[in-house]
Amino acid sequence: MRALVTTAPGGWEQTRLSDVVLRDGRPEDVLVKVHAVGLNPADHFQIEGRYPGGPKPPFVPGRDASGIVIQGDAAGHWQPGDVVVVLQSSTTDLVNGTLCEQQWFAAENLARKPEEWSHSEAAAAPLVFLTAWKALVDIGGLKPGQNVVITGASGGVGLAAVQLASAYGATVVGLSRSDDKRPGLLEAGAHHVFSPDNPHLKEQICDALRAKGVPLVVDNVGGPSLTTAVHLLGIHGRVSVVGVLAGIEAVIPIPALMFKRASIHGVLVTDDSPGRAQTAWQEIVELMDRARLRPKIDSRFPLESVAKAFEKLRTNVLGKVIVEIPA
Ligand SMILES: NC(=O)c1ccc[n+]([C@@H]2O[C@H](COP(=O)([O-])OP(=O)(O)OC[C@H]3O[C@@H](n4cnc5c(N)ncnc54)[C@H](OP(=O)(O)O)[C@@H]3O)[C@@H](O)[C@H]2O)c1
Repeated sequence: MRALVTTAPGGWEQTRLSDVVLRDGRPEDVLVKVHAVGLNPADHFQIEGRYPGGPKPPFVPGRDASGIVIQGDAAGHWQPGDVVVVLQSSTTDLVNGTLCEQQWFAAENLARKPEEWSHSEAAAAPLVFLTAWKALVDIGGLKPGQNVVITGASGGVGLAAVQLASAYGATVVGLSRSDDKRPGLLEAGAHHVFSPDNPHLKEQICDALRAKGVPLVVDNVGGPSLTTAVHLLGIHGRVSVVGVLAGIEAVIPIPALMFKRASIHGVLVTDDSPGRAQTAWQEIVELMDRARLRPKIDSRFPLESVAKAFEKLRTNVLGKVIVEIPA
């Protein structure tokens, strides 16, 4: 069986596609033939040893996948032929990841693939959509009709948040540094798209929304973006902190926080029990299907070109980079 394996610390130097013997599964595991894997920056950080709490080599990277059950679990939750997607939860196995031809996954971390979605669309979704849902609804408390600002809106989590928030009935402001991603973000459901670098960003957003501040900012970028997020809030507003791409430290304007009675909340997708992740996934799929939306794919690569797929992930993509592993 072929798998991408990081054999020792040292990043890509120590990571290659290899023939490996499949490990034994536990009674609660299900053997899945993987058909598609959605890449995330987290996979790259794990390979480079830069992921806090990440796996120690040797490990197979990859978190998201869609595939077909070859052998079910002992309790019979899953049967051969079931078409499944791998969800993220507190019991996600970071050592035995998805970038391989076959893998054993805990039965509790599998859900049925949405029927109308292709394997690639399904593999594009779990990590980013579960994170976006948590940031918007579970932690952000978003209500239909409210305004939300999403930073890093063109990224995996950002685009998922734009789609989910607009399907949820929110008015969505997406922030992106690149003008060429603007049409794609508007098409995905953003009502307004602005550059985070505009010195008059707050006035621009408040004018567009005819509001003095926003109830929720989903911050995928971190660093100075978190400072901006607090300034954008209205009274009792909250920030859902998702990512740290622009820095792991931020200046917090305490008077703004205090006078607005605002709050800042961390989001961690693997905080959820498998049961909660299943419930969130069902809500996500129903919402996406009702709005006739699908996870957006930027590009697809065969397993043999997995290194090229990771190179692509580091460029200016809009949508997910998928590794496909046909039968
Ligand atoms: N907390 C959790 O549970 C959780 C779960 C998933 C992901 N994450 C983290 O969330 C972050 C976003 O993930 P993702 O998958 O959406 O990443 P991504 O696909 O790489 O996209 C992030 C977007 O942010 C913008 N960006 C990138 N670097 C930036 C910088 N230095 N300054 C300002 N903007 C920047 C880019 O948009 P423009 O170029 O258009 O501006 C990019 O499209 C990552 O840090 C990831 O590790 C956290």
